[in-house]
Amino acid sequence: MSTEPQTWHYGVVARWWAEFNQTGPEIDYFRRFVEAGQPALDVACGTGRLLLPYLRAGLDVDGCDVSPDMLARCREAAAREGLSPKLYEQAMHELDLRRRYRTVFVCGGFGLGSSRAQDREAWRRLHDHLEPGGVLVLDNEVPYANGPQWRYWVKEQRAELPQPRREPGRRRAGSDGAEYALCARIVGLDPLAQQVSWEMRAFMWRDGELAAQEEHRLTTTLYFRDELVLMLKCAGFGDIEVRGQYNDAEPTPDDDFLVYIARKGG
Ligand SMILES: C[S@@+](CC[C@H](N)C(=O)[O-])C[C@H]1O[C@@H](n2cnc3c(N)ncnc32)[C@H](O)[C@@H]1O
Repeated sequence: MSTEPQTWHYGVVARWWAEFNQTGPEIDYFRRFVEAGQPALDVACGTGRLLLPYLRAGLDVDGCDVSPDMLARCREAAAREGLSPKLYEQAMHELDLRRRYRTVFVCGGFGLGSSRAQDREAWRRLHDHLEPGGVLVLDNEVPYANGPQWRYWVKEQRAELPQPRREPGRRRAGSDGAEYALCARIVGLDPLAQQVSWEMRAFMWRDGELAAQEEHRLTTTLYFRDELVLMLKCAGFGDIEVRGQYNDAEPTPDDDFLVYIARKGG
């Protein structure tokens, strides 16, 4: 793996996010934490799925992301509404901002394309960027959430990797008149490192003609609950709570995402 985090949220993929990923239960769930503690920092804010509704509601939220393309789409969408968020192009393990926050949140952005050492450093940076008593909230998909992926932890099935390439399926019509399709496949899984490597092909058509085709790689690190709790403790966090998928309940084995809530000592 390269030393730079390598995500796939560029170019056509960034356009896809801006066009088609604008809703979800995460928006209301994370909002409560932001309302209770401002200013807030949306780490890996992407195209602003959470950030933009919060700004619209008058909440004091900044954003950061490693991808300039995602940030550009976020800025454009904000400008259309007359909003001008403070957005920073920084990887979370290199986060270095002047401001300190009552709430730092990460939605769908932890463990993407980074090494374990970078992830540990990210915890330390997020801790540094909190005011004393401030709260970190993040969600993380459990490694066994994705059945088609989980089967490759087993040796015999791992031998079938990489998955075959598929042709792009259903095209989706964007508001810009273009059509889009994404096509992802698993190319490798290392159960020792708990890492899965993906290839993403992204397509854009204009007037029926293929206008752009891109290929990106992404290696994600899969974390189990107690491992993440331990990492948070090592980074200096206290009062660590784990919750179910966007509810306040104790987690169950059926939750595909867990939410981690951790406090910086006051
Ligand atoms: C799945 S998207 C989620 C975006 C947004 N949080 C949301 O929920 O709509 C993941 C985002 O994480 C960003 N990202 C990936 N690795 C990152 C890193 N090491 N530091 C900061 N951002 C990162 C990507 O560029 C992308 O915008």
